[in-house]
Amino acid sequence: MSFLKEIQRRRTFGIISHPDAGKTTLTEKLLLFGGAIQEAGAVKNNKIKKGATSDFMEIERQRGISVATSVLAFIYRDKKINILDTPGHKDFAEDTFRTLTAVDSVIVVIDVAKGVEEQTEKLVEVCRMRNIPMIVFINKLDREGKDAFDLMDEVEQKLGLSVTPLSFPIGMGYDFKGIYNIYGKKINLFSGDNKQTISEGIEFDDINNPELDKIIGEKSAQTLREELELVYEVYPEFDHQKYVEGKLQPVFFGSALNNFGVKELLDCFIDIAPNPQPKKAEERLVDSKEDKMTGFVFKIHANMDPKHRDRLAFIKIVSGIFKRNTPYLHVRHNKNLKFSSPNAFFAEKKEIVEKSYPGDIVGLHDTGNFKIGDTLTEGEILNFKGIPSFSPEHFRYVNNADPMKAKQLYKGLDQLMDEGVAQLFTLDMNGRKIIGTVGALQYEVIQYRLEHEYGAKCTYENIHVHKACWVQPEDEKSEEFKEFKRVKQRYLAKDKQGQLVFLADSTFTIQMTQQKYPSIKLHFTSEFE
Ligand code: G4P
Repeated sequence: MSFLKEIQRRRTFGIISHPDAGKTTLTEKLLLFGGAIQEAGAVKNNKIKKGATSDFMEIERQRGISVATSVLAFIYRDKKINILDTPGHKDFAEDTFRTLTAVDSVIVVIDVAKGVEEQTEKLVEVCRMRNIPMIVFINKLDREGKDAFDLMDEVEQKLGLSVTPLSFPIGMGYDFKGIYNIYGKKINLFSGDNKQTISEGIEFDDINNPELDKIIGEKSAQTLREELELVYEVYPEFDHQKYVEGKLQPVFFGSALNNFGVKELLDCFIDIAPNPQPKKAEERLVDSKEDKMTGFVFKIHANMDPKHRDRLAFIKIVSGIFKRNTPYLHVRHNKNLKFSSPNAFFAEKKEIVEKSYPGDIVGLHDTGNFKIGDTLTEGEILNFKGIPSFSPEHFRYVNNADPMKAKQLYKGLDQLMDEGVAQLFTLDMNGRKIIGTVGALQYEVIQYRLEHEYGAKCTYENIHVHKACWVQPEDEKSEEFKEFKRVKQRYLAKDKQGQLVFLADSTFTIQMTQQKYPSIKLHFTSEFE
């Protein structure tokens, strides 16, 4: 198959949702369609169980399984589909943000009864900022939930999206009869008392066809006609270009658990979802069709076996063909590296691969060369953008609890930070180290892993910080900047890249600081124009 065809048949995407909306169930059903797994329940173990907020052993278990489910690839209708797993647990939100830099589109799952939830809002905002094409799947239609129109309003208002339904439910909960597939102009009905069997789609070019009344009953047919009329009146027609640009989001309805509406979603998805997209580097825009290989690290996974310090770095191929045993330039280190056993992922298996194409994810064994955001090329100096750090939510001083093991502690901290477990800040004033995390759980994970993988011990000490703000002065030599640095001295630190960070203790402080020093911009992410 030609290089171009290989690119065109790839769909690399992520599924995002608030925990419990049905992401795992949907993933599993998609894999079943692709023939990648034979039975339901295979992906399920990947979930961090509810109530596991302080159970870091659960996290360790999760870490082991999640290597296998980081990328789930399968072939469907000759398309190579790569699903990138995104952790649902909010304490790992940053991991999800980073994974979103490697997807070409996303599917957003929403629970019909709960509507738009907090975690969905945050994740969709990140996708919206990057204009990532999104499809919305409203799940659990077998249960009583919100009215379809109200839900679409909620999606538009709370998520700032502009939607158009491509399928529409016929009834809901107890009365749920099936789905009208607007995209394929078909009706699919649930049949059987237990609503587990699905009829083959019945084609309906004309919704006014009296046959409809016979099939779903006069009342339901009437309601459906009225609702569809409203749909056509209120919502814009599906426009592929707008969807790809992230300006229009198609909506599907269904029930992942009952496997209903999933095939419609998948069939439409592979038709409309974009193949690997160009990606911005600091130097230039890189197109997937370029023949020279480029790729970047978006995730690093530590080995589960503490005796082996090697890790798996996940690379998204942006352009060209990645080949085994070929030297590639590690741009940050300016050195060539060869990989003798690059892993490709297929369903839950990983295997050594000779060639990978744009859109694919390759797992590279790493002994500490990589950190998140690193770029590999065939020699060109390129730095892919878009993997910023976000301000952590929690901050604590980290202290060495075993003076004999200082070296191990710093090495451990260094590597865990490269993996993206948390962020390390060093106070300008006295060199003290502060760890910032998205969730409180990470502190336990760090302590546990330092001890078990590096033989080091640490303790934490509270510090009152509200947000980390990356500092961007208009003029580094200005009097204003000098004064800012003098007055705020106690609250200034460097992140791991050496960028200046202001650790603000409240929103009020941030506002006052911005007012007092208008020429100094404060950012909540480490990457800005
Ligand atoms: P998540 O990955 O987004 O966190 O959600 P997950 O798929 O694990 O689904 C959360 C719960 O919702 C599960 O039930 C799952 O069975 C259920 N669910 C998913 N899709 C549907 C659907 O279409 N209809 C209905 N009624 N339920 C659905 P659980 O009781 O938490 O887990 P389990 O015991 O069933 O595994």
